[in-house]
Amino acid sequence: MTASPAPRIVVALDGPASSGKSSVGIAVAQRLGLRFLDTGLIYRALTALALREGVAPEDQPAVIALIPRFELADDGSGRLARVLVDGADETDAVRSHEVDAAVSAVARQPDVRAALLGLQRRIAAPGGIVMAGRDIGTVVLPAAGLKVYLDASVGERAGRRIRERGLDPQGDEAAAVREQLRTRDAADSGRAVAPLRAAEDAVVLRTDGMGLDEVVDLVAGLVVAAETGGAATAPGVAGEPVAGANRPAAGTPSRSRPSPAPAAREPLPRVLEVAMRLDNQQTMLVRMVARIAQWIGHALAAISIEGLENIPRRGAVIIAANHASNADPIYAGAWVSDALRTRRLHWLGKRELFFWPVFGWICALGGIHPVDRSSADIEAYRLASRILERGYVLMIFPEGTRSPTGALQEAKDGVAQLALRSGAQIVPMAINGSDLVWPKGRRFPAPFPRRRVRVRIGQPFLVADVVPPATDRRAAKTAATTAIMGRIAELLEPRQRGAYAGAVRASATEGTARDPA
Ligand code: DC
Repeated sequence: MTASPAPRIVVALDGPASSGKSSVGIAVAQRLGLRFLDTGLIYRALTALALREGVAPEDQPAVIALIPRFELADDGSGRLARVLVDGADETDAVRSHEVDAAVSAVARQPDVRAALLGLQRRIAAPGGIVMAGRDIGTVVLPAAGLKVYLDASVGERAGRRIRERGLDPQGDEAAAVREQLRTRDAADSGRAVAPLRAAEDAVVLRTDGMGLDEVVDLVAGLVVAAETGGAATAPGVAGEPVAGANRPAAGTPSRSRPSPAPAAREPLPRVLEVAMRLDNQQTMLVRMVARIAQWIGHALAAISIEGLENIPRRGAVIIAANHASNADPIYAGAWVSDALRTRRLHWLGKRELFFWPVFGWICALGGIHPVDRSSADIEAYRLASRILERGYVLMIFPEGTRSPTGALQEAKDGVAQLALRSGAQIVPMAINGSDLVWPKGRRFPAPFPRRRVRVRIGQPFLVADVVPPATDRRAAKTAATTAIMGRIAELLEPRQRGAYAGAVRASATEGTARDPA
């Protein structure tokens, strides 16, 4: 007997009118192979029917009696976007001005809302759906696997509508759009039953200033993370496990339930924020930082770097390295930055680094993005996803934290998740011997006796080529993690292979299994 696959996630996507729920929901659903329903369509269908039959919105039993006469139909692409009334397609009619004007009156009737609950829940029951509305997370699907509340100021939402319709922002029509939105907001939030508000456990996204693609990426990232087992585990960098990026800018997701006051919430110095750029351009300053790092690297140990030519010149790349020393960022980054020429190397680093004098500057200029370890891991995952979606190069230490023994520890699954989702090429990198130069637990490096650090960069590969087809999500993550860490282990001396000694392919070790003299 074969086990049936686990049902896919149910996503509740709420927010005010024109917050982009439909566009975002449709795009996310399409990208991730989920169904989509905008529940506003249900209220609109019922309103259109009531108008046609001359039924007053307040006559709740009569409105409820109309419910069996409409149904939602698939538009052929997984969207329940067609409305059939008495079997005939009335999709256009439900978007008419008459319906616009009357729908709020229908939507505020408590018995009508209650009568529509069963329909909405039945649609969600098989799973695998993004359901958009006003009360999906709070009332309709309180147990949804992920709740997202999209928000934006009236000005922003009106501006989007005004641009879409090509109106003059100063004109009367634009003013009417703003006014309508205010009225609808008041009607949706002010009604007694199921008013518009974010669920306690919703991720609230304020999207002022963000483009559609950006919001879609963000929500898709949240869905993937929720579906693959809770919050994404962030890959770590520069010594410690990292968690969330802490940019108090637009789009920063926050749980609506107040979280315990995180430490180090001080805003970053503004000049540092300017220096941190999410682009693909290596600057003179990065080159300078890399050069200085190379000098320091040479001062600490005798260095050899092999395989720089294996780093792909184009497209999204994850360079995944072992992490056993505070010196690793130097050995992992300084020569790679040079080899990338005009492309920028991106990293995630704990936010505290940016408060160190001078070093904070080096981090900002060197392409490190601050992540806040006191908030949800999901934010680091989001940042990493954005870097890869833009086709940039990201350096990751999949173990998250430095190994106390110098040997590989179990990796977090963030790297596998990113690799599976982004389709980025993975470049394994082994930093041999850095643990002897600056072991974990030592305050300062030990350049004497002089040691050898041997950095070995392996062939790029795609996790899709190593994860067996039709593997379920959890198994895929495990397989991808093992493959990535196994490739790193193959490039490490046997004493440093640790938890992944068993993942080394026999064919890969010929002539390399040698501990340093
Ligand atoms: O999102 P929309 O404009 O198509 O929604 C039409 C109306 O339905 C609007 O007045 C809010 C209401 N609505 C609701 O009350 N609850 C929902 N889950 C979805 C929509």
